[in-house]
Amino acid sequence: MQNNNKKKVLLEINNNKFDLPIISGSTGPEVIDIRTLYKISNLFTFDPGFTSTASCESSITFIDGDKGKLLYRGFDIAELAIKSNFLEVCYLLLYGNLPKKDQLFDFTQRVTRHTMLHEQMIYFFRGFRRDAHPMAIICGVQGAMSSFYHDSLDINDPWQREVASIRMIAKLPTIVAYAYKYSTGQPFVYPNNSLDYAENFLHMCFSVPAEKYKSNPVLNKAMDRIFILHADHEQNASTSTVRLAGSSGANPFACIAAGIACLWGPAHGGANEACLDMLKEIGSIDRIPEFISRAKDKNDPFRLMGFGHRVYKNFDPRAKVMKESADEVLNLLGINNNKTLQVAKELEKIALEDDYFIEKKLYPNVDFYSGIILEAMGFPTSMFTPIFALARTVGWISHWIEMHSDPEKKIGRPRQLYTGSLEKKFINIKDR
Ligand code: CMC
Repeated sequence: MQNNNKKKVLLEINNNKFDLPIISGSTGPEVIDIRTLYKISNLFTFDPGFTSTASCESSITFIDGDKGKLLYRGFDIAELAIKSNFLEVCYLLLYGNLPKKDQLFDFTQRVTRHTMLHEQMIYFFRGFRRDAHPMAIICGVQGAMSSFYHDSLDINDPWQREVASIRMIAKLPTIVAYAYKYSTGQPFVYPNNSLDYAENFLHMCFSVPAEKYKSNPVLNKAMDRIFILHADHEQNASTSTVRLAGSSGANPFACIAAGIACLWGPAHGGANEACLDMLKEIGSIDRIPEFISRAKDKNDPFRLMGFGHRVYKNFDPRAKVMKESADEVLNLLGINNNKTLQVAKELEKIALEDDYFIEKKLYPNVDFYSGIILEAMGFPTSMFTPIFALARTVGWISHWIEMHSDPEKKIGRPRQLYTGSLEKKFINIKDR
């Protein structure tokens, strides 16, 4: 890492003065470089939740929380969502540039050649209970991939890293669709490589051998947009999990399984499912005030799911695009007036006008609208987070590759502020 910034911070501890360099990126807040802090001062820093800590250097994605901007490799996602498609965005995130026509063709060919799962993997699905949450299934099957592709496990070989990456981007839609089919009791539908990425995913989820599947271009586009908008989001909890798992040199397929596990939580990727469940629990417009006052009550752990974000403090740019998609899909399917949607629209209106939400800068986030679209498409709520995982796989992989390409990479090993007991004498069980 080169530092051309001459700025420093002066740290004074008990009359001892230390200079700590300040490093600038291409944009965003500058950082105080504390890598030598412990050595020079015998002190750690304390920042649970990483609210003020940059855990790494990265050139993949940038979020400007105040302006509500999200850039993938410098390109605004609002523009990518309209002008690009998911596989082109995957190329952009992985390789850093938009592909030329022949590069995109070649990349698409490579991805589509890997869409099938090893036939042996189907037995893993059958081992799960029929009512297993699909996140449990995809986490397990993704982890199991660690034992299938021995020719792409050398993390120090850039070619093998790339093969592992293409495999995961290609196979996740198949794994997620199979998890869904398994829950419905319908037969697994093999991928169809003549369809594009999003269309093939919908085909594997919704077609059955007994009938011809009719795809709808508006739904294909909406699905593709959901994938684009969820593809990456800099150092969020699951991406940081993948980096931390990968920093030990762990198996690439297992690292992505770790990311899937982290994404599952309701404060992260699980929010889209929790949001729809909440809208259904509210049930009718007249019950909204009750839930708004619960959200404000400090003694009630309830939060309005689909509202708020650690980084976006004015609006979530993904939510803006997603809202347009939601309108398109609902118009197409003629379900503008269903109860859940009415509750969603009214809740959005009230929360945007309410002082508590304005003061705390709590706006609807991407999950608020994506859940509405996915439900309209016919997905059960339990499939929302798996679809997020499918889309985020390319982001996780891009960060994992970036980390392994860094000559200064180190195993991630946070410190702690110990508050437990001091050394105690062991007492035999009979004397306790
Ligand atoms: N409903 C009601 N109050 C809220 C909410 C909410 N959804 N979110 C934050 N607050 C309040 C919170 O109680 C706190 O109040 P106070 O200052 O009085 O203690 C204040 O706002 C700040 O909250 P915080 O928990 O310190 O903020 P954070 O940046 O740590 O949390 C968040 C961000 C996304 C975890 C949180 O807003 C939340 O739990 N939202 C609901 C879950 C959700 O929709 N998550 C999806 C995020 S978008 C998808 C993704 O990128 O993963």
